[in-house]
Amino acid sequence: MKTTQKKLNIGLVGYGFMGRTHSNAFLQAPRFFDVSFEPVRKAVCARNRDRAAAFAANWGYESIETDWRKLVERKDIDLIDIASPNDTHHDIAIAAARAGKLVMCEKPLGRSAAESEAMVAAVESARVANTVWYNYRRVPAVVLLQNLVAEGRLGRVFHYRAKFLQDWTISQDLPQGGEGLWRLDVAVAGSGVTGDLLAHCIDTAMWLNGPITAVTAVTETFIKERKHNLTGKVELVGIDDASAFLARFQNGSLATFEATRYARGHKALYTLEINGEHASAMWDLHDLHRIQWFDHKDEGRVRGWRNVHVTDGDQPYMKRWWVPGLQIGYEHTFIHHFADFLQAISEFKSAAPTFRDGLATDYVTDAVLRSARSGRWEAVKSAQAIVEAAG
Ligand SMILES: NC(=O)c1ccc[n+]([C@@H]2O[C@H](COP(=O)([O-])OP(=O)(O)OC[C@H]3O[C@@H](n4cnc5c(N)ncnc54)[C@H](O)[C@@H]3O)[C@@H](O)[C@H]2O)c1
Repeated sequence: MKTTQKKLNIGLVGYGFMGRTHSNAFLQAPRFFDVSFEPVRKAVCARNRDRAAAFAANWGYESIETDWRKLVERKDIDLIDIASPNDTHHDIAIAAARAGKLVMCEKPLGRSAAESEAMVAAVESARVANTVWYNYRRVPAVVLLQNLVAEGRLGRVFHYRAKFLQDWTISQDLPQGGEGLWRLDVAVAGSGVTGDLLAHCIDTAMWLNGPITAVTAVTETFIKERKHNLTGKVELVGIDDASAFLARFQNGSLATFEATRYARGHKALYTLEINGEHASAMWDLHDLHRIQWFDHKDEGRVRGWRNVHVTDGDQPYMKRWWVPGLQIGYEHTFIHHFADFLQAISEFKSAAPTFRDGLATDYVTDAVLRSARSGRWEAVKSAQAIVEAAG
């Protein structure tokens, strides 16, 4: 890190799971990447003062706030990073954009596409750099896979399939709402596994294979009532526990997507596969530094699936890390994302996925939930087609 760099003062909202991954990225990105800003952990905001203070001490934040509005108003903050639950994204992002701050926001962008549209309009009319933390776009193996597809190595693409399986909500006794369990409360989360898990699969899929134009879906809520932690009463569960859909891509290929939190034994099994005319590729989050690659052009006698260990210096991001053969992990995806964001803002740009890209995913998740209700194929709106924000 050069000492003459311009400081970038960060205000982080939320000190949970993502607050930690982002704080780690703020610390590590300048150590491993040539960045033109010095990130300063200026303030962390969370509602509980003591816990915010403990987080600030652990991660080296200079100050704390207990109301995000105060954080957004502060003149000494350049970047607002939103790492709080989904129901907070819309209001914080819009206020931050209006205050002229750069905005990084966790996924899904909004609880619905309607919220996300307003967020896109806010950052675009304020002309502030923005990004959504769909971090799987920064796994070196996934980037390599994307590069191979973009180079046309697969030829015409026929199939895409993705799933994201977990098992942590199977117990009937698990309450909904409040700390750690807001994902089960539809008012806070917006939806269940569709917005939480499938959103990741959809973002990666559209990055690899282009826009999704139509979907037909089924969802299920296996446990219909759960005690609510905030009211103490047994209340209806409004989230989807499982969601599966078929999709058509604009390029003519077909897809299947599935997510659930009821797949006993699976903790975070995100897998994807893409099949083209000349080649196929697969990736698995549980083995995130590898891709499986099959190239039909290989000599027939030795043709087969290659297991590529993505750790060498000529593979994406890896020359920044250790020596060939030594792998990196989950936390590095956030470091890569933040380093890319710093590079983008040095060129007065946003880093992909932008808020508009996040809206594109929300249009798909909205169509999935609509289709599950209607029982019909539903068209997906195009995020590129929405009117450019004024100004
Ligand atoms: N990119 C990913 O892979 C990924 C993974 C997990 C979560 N997420 C997303 O990150 C966001 C946060 O999820 P998490 O798992 O870190 O949640 P979490 O429950 O671990 O942490 C949420 C934090 O937000 C704080 N918070 C809640 N309301 C607040 C408010 N009004 N003002 C200030 N702080 C508030 C809580 O105190 C807590 O510190 C969600 O949008 C989630 O979908 C993304």
